[in-house]
Amino acid sequence: MKMLVTGPRGFVGARIISQMRAAGVEAIPAPSLRDFSEEEIRRLICETEPDVVVHTAAISDIGTCEQNPEASYRANVEIPLWIARRGVKSLLFSTDQVYSGCRGEGPYREEETAPANTYARHKLEMEQRVLEANPDSVLLRATWMYDMPMYGVANRGNFLVNMLRQPAQSFSGTQHRAVTYVQQVAELIRPAASLPGGIYNYGSENDLTMLQTAQWLKQELKLPVTLSDAGERHHLWMDCSKLKSFGICFDTTLEGLKRCIRDYSL
Ligand SMILES: NC(=O)c1ccc[n+]([C@@H]2O[C@H](COP(=O)([O-])OP(=O)(O)OC[C@H]3O[C@@H](n4cnc5c(N)ncnc54)[C@H](OP(=O)(O)O)[C@@H]3O)[C@@H](O)[C@H]2O)c1
Repeated sequence: MKMLVTGPRGFVGARIISQMRAAGVEAIPAPSLRDFSEEEIRRLICETEPDVVVHTAAISDIGTCEQNPEASYRANVEIPLWIARRGVKSLLFSTDQVYSGCRGEGPYREEETAPANTYARHKLEMEQRVLEANPDSVLLRATWMYDMPMYGVANRGNFLVNMLRQPAQSFSGTQHRAVTYVQQVAELIRPAASLPGGIYNYGSENDLTMLQTAQWLKQELKLPVTLSDAGERHHLWMDCSKLKSFGICFDTTLEGLKRCIRDYSL
């Protein structure tokens, strides 16, 4: 299988490239698409002739999207749409933030969406327009992901690194939300390439609140971090039964954290 990966120097893309190559997949890192036109994307896909495009490039920071909605729209709606229009099987990353304004308590299934910020609104529009352009596209709604830093990849805060390095952390004692080990996100990309077109919750499930999850990790690793309750936050937890019905199963959040602890001998 020949796989073109966009955002190959990003948090998720770098892990996908590394895992696919280890598994013998020909994984081609795309150049930066920031200044690409639709025509340049067409040419890139024509020249590389991938069987699958895995699109991770995005503006993934909620605050940046709020401050610069035009840049967010280009990165998070237009560029993915230009990729989908090429008609190649494509896996495109979306976000659990599409549930950020849902009235129900959750866990949320794919059809129950209510985005409450610009990033989430653009991702939801992207999903809809991508599917209209190419119904064979696979939209993967990811949770907040974590890992230890990777050599050669810019490090940014994530749940695990923050817990290990920061003296104090604040999490909601009421918010149900999962965090997912990004190495498993990368590992399951190969089976995900065989999914029929559609939208999938793609990550760990978690019955605990964010504060309970952090308390578990603190106790498990005997971390000196001081934890406090950040108060009410909207739930973001996902029901991943649709993905499981195709045989793609993530660890729960605690199982994923245990696996990560073993992988890095933490
Ligand atoms: N990280 C998470 O916890 C998380 C959670 C839920 C969903 N997601 C989604 O998962 C995907 C991957 O996330 P990530 O954390 O790997 O993202 P990331 O590291 O923040 O960014 C990935 C890549 O996007 C490219 N990029 C940045 N700004 C761009 C722009 N204006 N136009 C086009 N490309 C741009 C950059 O590549 P170049 O420097 O090569 O341009 C960057 O390396 C994204 O779709 C994100 O929305 C992530």
